[in-house]
Amino acid sequence: MRKEIRGYNEVREAARDWESYSSDLLGDRDVRDYRQLPLEADPPRHTKFRMALNPIFSPSALRPLAPDFEALAKRLIDKLKPKGGFEVLEDLVIPYVIGCLTIIYKRPQDYDEWRSWGPDVWNAAAYQRGEDVHAAEIAHRNRDFSVASPRSGEVLQAYLDTVFDEAEARVAAAEEERDIWDFVAGLVIDETPVNRAEMQGIANVLLAGGRDTVIKLLAGFIWHLTQTSGDADFIRENEEHFRPAIQEMARYLTPLPRMERVPREYAVGNDASRDTEKYVLLGFVSANHDRERFENPETINFQRERNAHIAFGFGPHSCLGQNITEIETIAFLKAVLPEIQSWSFAENPDLSWVDEPLSDGSTIKYLDKFKKIRVNL
Ligand code: HEM
Repeated sequence: MRKEIRGYNEVREAARDWESYSSDLLGDRDVRDYRQLPLEADPPRHTKFRMALNPIFSPSALRPLAPDFEALAKRLIDKLKPKGGFEVLEDLVIPYVIGCLTIIYKRPQDYDEWRSWGPDVWNAAAYQRGEDVHAAEIAHRNRDFSVASPRSGEVLQAYLDTVFDEAEARVAAAEEERDIWDFVAGLVIDETPVNRAEMQGIANVLLAGGRDTVIKLLAGFIWHLTQTSGDADFIRENEEHFRPAIQEMARYLTPLPRMERVPREYAVGNDASRDTEKYVLLGFVSANHDRERFENPETINFQRERNAHIAFGFGPHSCLGQNITEIETIAFLKAVLPEIQSWSFAENPDLSWVDEPLSDGSTIKYLDKFKKIRVNL
């Protein structure tokens, strides 16, 4: 069993201390053999990749897209209205998040393909086969390997091969930058053009990082606001209430529950030769539900004071996609809030809760996954 660092102060400190707790490691070892960038590198290499990606994540690039996001959310809702009811994840949240990514990355032609992957790119093949991905994930988490793993990198790899063959050819021919893949293929770091493995590593965080996390956050809002109309009223009251509501939802749900680090003394040699049992985990859930730091952490409280949660990480690797998340979520809420009074659960939402250990040895009930939320209009 690998060690997990738990508790607010401990996780924050370890996340900041990259010299002791390195990100120089290969994650998702069952589905890929290249590093995600800038995530799986330490400064100074990490910082160069992070800076290179800044143009995609800057508020000035993203804010002008907000009206398109809101129009997309409204279109999706309008299409659902005549149906009288719908499933929140499949019919609204997943199409919305994927639609936003096609807008940000200027790849409208990829909508159907990205949609066919479902919420998590590593489960795309199983999702396409219609398997119960979540049940298999739970079995594996409990070390029950009699069930086949739903995870596979094949769908994403086929896509990356196609788009980067094309983008590399366009860069070589000095064609005008058209979309995100032309941008990534044209990056030059330390006067050296990025290689194919680096392009894939960047594409990974761009496609995977902002997908299941935001899907969970938005599904969480619908789930919560459908049953807590007072909180919907609070957000409606004042535009300034969007941000604290998003921060509190992010704290409560902690959509990225833990991340790996390698203690510096084990960050040696190539990935294949390392003993990954020595790697440790940063427990973001335990930090964001630390009773010493947050009063009643198990309660969603949009008016929580000093909500310095670390759902978006802390230190050099803190989330680059926070602006995207905020802008996407505000646009989504603006489309949802005028409608949600007339929504009610058609049946009990199908949620998966787990007992999550805290630093003091106790546990909390953590909302691991929204499986299905059916609402009537
Ligand atoms: C609710 C939404 C999100 C949550 C909770 C979240 C959470 C996180 C966390 C905890 C980290 C730090 C990982 C670590 O310390 O190892 C991180 C890093 C990162 N996130 Fe997010 N994220 C979200 C949305 C997004 C989006 C929308 C994107 C982009 C489309 C994105 C891109 C990234 C990238 C590129 C990094 C790596 C930063 C670096 O290594 O310097 N994230 N995210």
